[in-house]
Amino acid sequence: MWGGRFAEGPSAIMREINASIPFDKALWRQDIAASRAHVAMLAACDIVTADDAQTILDGLERVSGEYEANGVPEDWDLEDIHMTTESRLAELIGPVAGRLHTARSRNDQVATDFRLWVREAMDDVDAGLAALQDALVTQAEAHAGSIMPGFTHLQTAQPVTLGHHLMAYYEMMRRDRSRFADARARMNESPLGSAALAGTGFPIDREMTAQALGFDAPTRNSLDAVSDRDFAIDFLQAAAQCSLHLSRLAEEFVIWASQPFGFVRMADSLSTGSSIMPQKKNPDAAELVRGHAGRIVGCVTALMVTMKGLPLAYSKDMQDDKPPVFEAAQLLGLSIAAMTGMVAESTFRTERMRQAAELGYATATDLADWLVRAANIPFREAHHITGAAVKLAESRGIALDALPLDDLQAIDARIDERVYAALSVEASVAARASYGGTAPDQVRARVAEARAQLEAE
Ligand code: ARG
Repeated sequence: MWGGRFAEGPSAIMREINASIPFDKALWRQDIAASRAHVAMLAACDIVTADDAQTILDGLERVSGEYEANGVPEDWDLEDIHMTTESRLAELIGPVAGRLHTARSRNDQVATDFRLWVREAMDDVDAGLAALQDALVTQAEAHAGSIMPGFTHLQTAQPVTLGHHLMAYYEMMRRDRSRFADARARMNESPLGSAALAGTGFPIDREMTAQALGFDAPTRNSLDAVSDRDFAIDFLQAAAQCSLHLSRLAEEFVIWASQPFGFVRMADSLSTGSSIMPQKKNPDAAELVRGHAGRIVGCVTALMVTMKGLPLAYSKDMQDDKPPVFEAAQLLGLSIAAMTGMVAESTFRTERMRQAAELGYATATDLADWLVRAANIPFREAHHITGAAVKLAESRGIALDALPLDDLQAIDARIDERVYAALSVEASVAARASYGGTAPDQVRARVAEARAQLEAE
């Protein structure tokens, strides 16, 4: 392709280090689409004849059919997907294939293909996250009133509802989706026609190719267009943030499925057994989602470090932009699908959860709040009185509301029998009806809004 100025061919190591075809063949659909748009524009602008353009379009159709049927051949001598396609095109249609590369460089070609690929990956992630949100909302609705311990420091804190807990992840996924949407809107400009770095002397129509490829507009600076990969980094950063959220949800399943917790029975279909311990059912899918987050964070780091300090415009370092993006997209897609299945198909053991909330003195704050409201005691003092009550109950191994009134009154005489109504876990969650709080009615209201939001999309 560029042998004209060379006396010798590349060494074996040059061929190997240079070849991106083993991974950039994943861009073949985008590469064909961009070539189609480009050649149609060349004809419309009278840069190639209508006949030649048609020959090239027909040839591209055949190449595409071959890739579809047999995959993309991997010849290191052809370096990358762009050369591979052009060379096959030349075999099929002869020298007219050489007109396709008029007013184009691999630099704007790869920037265009890669944007198209990342844009599609963003759309796939968005659809996956919508499905996960749907699963979360469905379970949250079913468990709007199911009581579990809420934790801070993984110590029982206050009772919450399982629906409320799951809706917390709905919110995280909502922000994740908006991060991908922001990135998508920002990147949706076409580099095609920027050529190698400086633009082209041919009278091309960049609006036309931009429109044909679904971009909002052509990019405004050719140097920027061929040399930045911030759109890929945006994608990876959004992916990394999303994977952090998923890994937290995965971790909760790991904890909840453990025998001492016993909050959830995971679906057999998302668990594995042990080759030695017959009783085992391991949460491998959740653990892998947790693990994948580490790899995705590695991908964003890899590309940021690759791009750091590169002078304008294109440098070959940038060929290394693709593996981390492909890897992260694949890992994230799997993680989202695994968590969707886990949320949808797990059985929550609501009795165990409720019991854990009752046994963990989760309503101690409610006792303190009651002392403030019913007996007008300053909160700090109420906190102290409640601490004494918890200490007593704990020494007897019983729940707070199992303490006889006499014992409570021995701690503070201002306590009366009305306090028991405040000490149940139901009363506790029902009381937390502030906007965004855990009260079942609040959860149902948020679920209804979420449903409407998902349906409106
Ligand atoms: N395979 C190259 C890449 O992915 C395509 C661009 C090559 N451009 C060049 N001037 N060598 O970055």
